[in-house]
Amino acid sequence: GPMHASLKHDSAHKHVTGQAEYIDDIPEPAGTLHGGLGLSDRAHAEIVSIDLDAVRAAPGVVHVLTAADIPGFNDVASTGQRDEPLLATDLVQFHGQPIFAVIAETRDQARRAARLAKIEYRDLPHWTDIDGARQNGAPLVVEPMVLTRGEPQTEIEKPPLRIQASMTIGGQEHLYLESHIAMAIPGEDDDITVWSSTQHPSEVQHMVAHVLGIANHAVTVQIRRMGGGFGGKETQGNQFAALAAVAAKKLDRAVKFRPDRDEDMAMTGKRHDFRVEYDVAFDEDGRIHALDATYAARCGFSADLSGPVTDRALFHADSSYFYPHVQVRSQPLKTHTVSNTAFRGFGGPQGMLGAERIIEEIAYALGKDPLEIRKLNFYGQPGSGRTTTPYHQEVEDNIIARVVEELEASSDYQARRQAIIDFNANSPVIRKGIALTPVKFGISFTMTAYNQAGALVHLYQDGSIHLNHGGTEMGQGLYTKVAQVVADTFQVDIDRVKITATTTGKVPNTSATAASSGTDLNGMAALDAARQLKERLVDFACRQWKVERKEVEFLPNCIRIGEDIVPFDTLVRAAYYDRVHLSAAGFYKTPDIHWDRKAGRGRPFFYYAYGAACSEVSIDTLTGEYMVDRTDILHDVGKSLNPAIDIGQIEGGFVQGMGWLTTEELWWDDKGRLRTHAPSTYKIPLASDRPKIFNVRLAEWSENPAATIGRSKAVGEPPFMLAISVLEAISMAVASVADYAVCPRLDAPATPERVLMAVERLKAM
Ligand code: MTE
Ligand code: MOS
Repeated sequence: GPMHASLKHDSAHKHVTGQAEYIDDIPEPAGTLHGGLGLSDRAHAEIVSIDLDAVRAAPGVVHVLTAADIPGFNDVASTGQRDEPLLATDLVQFHGQPIFAVIAETRDQARRAARLAKIEYRDLPHWTDIDGARQNGAPLVVEPMVLTRGEPQTEIEKPPLRIQASMTIGGQEHLYLESHIAMAIPGEDDDITVWSSTQHPSEVQHMVAHVLGIANHAVTVQIRRMGGGFGGKETQGNQFAALAAVAAKKLDRAVKFRPDRDEDMAMTGKRHDFRVEYDVAFDEDGRIHALDATYAARCGFSADLSGPVTDRALFHADSSYFYPHVQVRSQPLKTHTVSNTAFRGFGGPQGMLGAERIIEEIAYALGKDPLEIRKLNFYGQPGSGRTTTPYHQEVEDNIIARVVEELEASSDYQARRQAIIDFNANSPVIRKGIALTPVKFGISFTMTAYNQAGALVHLYQDGSIHLNHGGTEMGQGLYTKVAQVVADTFQVDIDRVKITATTTGKVPNTSATAASSGTDLNGMAALDAARQLKERLVDFACRQWKVERKEVEFLPNCIRIGEDIVPFDTLVRAAYYDRVHLSAAGFYKTPDIHWDRKAGRGRPFFYYAYGAACSEVSIDTLTGEYMVDRTDILHDVGKSLNPAIDIGQIEGGFVQGMGWLTTEELWWDDKGRLRTHAPSTYKIPLASDRPKIFNVRLAEWSENPAATIGRSKAVGEPPFMLAISVLEAISMAVASVADYAVCPRLDAPATPERVLMAVERLKAM
């Protein structure tokens, strides 16, 4: 059947021919107005006065929206902490914070008018990074989390060897191709419809209701597809949707907000930068005995998702390694920068990167290959006494040793590592490095309530199928996979299933499409709905044909009923005439998970996804430039629902991770202004930056022991962390200039400048 088949993404052709409809392509209702934004140009200041006369008088301006126009709450905080005003009134807390919005006949007029405001500020002290926050005794944006197991305080003193150091890890801009956008269309009474480029339509619905002071039932939020989200549209779309909605209701006209790229980058949150401070004790073999570490994060001015992001960093502070005694703690620091948010991996990559650095430290201290230290510290199999995580969940489905061994063999790691060491000994300028790193990523939302989903399936009289569910499509192929599940249930061709836009009016109370769980949750909900309909069709067939249930069998596009073969559409039409209910709502909630944050104990994850990557790089020790010569990946997606789409996710995730760890650098100046605010100054990987040889394979033998849809595993985020192999390969190339005798302690991103500085530092040692 269509399940487990490499069907093409339903929009693949539309994406590349430009026929895929994004929100900006939807025909605008007559009289649509456009929003422009008035942003703070201070990092932290009191607003003394706002003079908007010139703005109001500018050509085409219909209205200037301020906080006074908001009928409900001036608040778009996703946490309920009320720490994020939609429009600032007397205080601004980051450069780029919205203060007012211009509503004009054209977008150009709105943008030009917004520049004419005269705002008087009284500056307050500001800090923009982790060091600044600590020096100023900055508050935390949420309660920190602590995970403890064993006796870390006393045990860390015992082993012969101990290293205390730190690693600085940069943030990341999402740079989705489609920037944020919202179009609000007012209806009668309280009603309003909002098209929003969001991963979380239900939250946008709640937020629009909250700012308008109306009930959720009056608000419908819709989205057919995003041009990329990557976590950047989990909460950050709220403000654009809320502004469009307030203006649309106020003026009774459709209103569209589409920030340009520079505004989008200044106004919306990014991946958190981290500082990981580690104190690790280990023995002469390289076995870790105890770890104590702090994970400080630049959170920005409000909480947003910083709680769950820093929590997930701690949940992945173990990477694939068993720590007999451990304490890890988060430090979510407030800074006067845009509020940082979700980004593929959600803090997990930062936590894991810290663990891989610790492995490197141990390896260089002992003069061993980091891969040897990795294997020595892997979680064991059940019964080994080495299966408990720092959050007290048992790792029961561990396949990391097998994944790593297979990749080590298929990539010819050992021979190539030796060849590289030999090459480096005779190469004065170009140096090479190779690294093989593991991935283990926990799947489920750590907020248990989010692990639920709904779906709606209709059978029409011609046998065509209408599918709707709570997940959103951002390019990852979710809609295709869920359609496969439904087509498979009825044994019909995928073209018979109409994939429809996500809307809060069809499936309510949905979760964000995030935490890689889109297919796990919505696939199961759709399966539930489709099975109900299938049952009704079977009941009907038994009644009508007077046969037993076992005599009814779904075959490709038809049903065998006793001796008869009946086309699918014929059966559906006959069922309609017999008054069979041909619409069903499905529901799913993930079983067996629970989490007690205060106690730092529970089972937050339903299962783990595994993978490994081996990367080889060359660096130029005179310029710091590098390239990735080859990457081999072996990744576990359980029994793949769609191998073609999964491999696309693995390649994309890896390259995006590579960007994070190499060229992508965010930089704020001393005024708190983001200076890397467009692709001209912020460098994402190009097609030409991908590994010159790029072998990606699925672990085809893997099946998810957990009862997921088709025994598959989530694929959206885990491959991102395969890119850690690139950073470590660069690190080895750098280490070669000092005979691999010291750990280069290469921070991320390893821009060419940073690589060059590390080379110089090591040469001087
Ligand atoms: N793939 C594409 N093409 N575009 C995206 O925006 N987002 C990633 C990942 N893959 C993303 C993507 C992120 S951050 C997540 S959490 C998952 O997709 C979400 O979708 P899923 O749960 O359906 O995997
Ligand atoms: Mo993904 S960061 O969970 O949207």
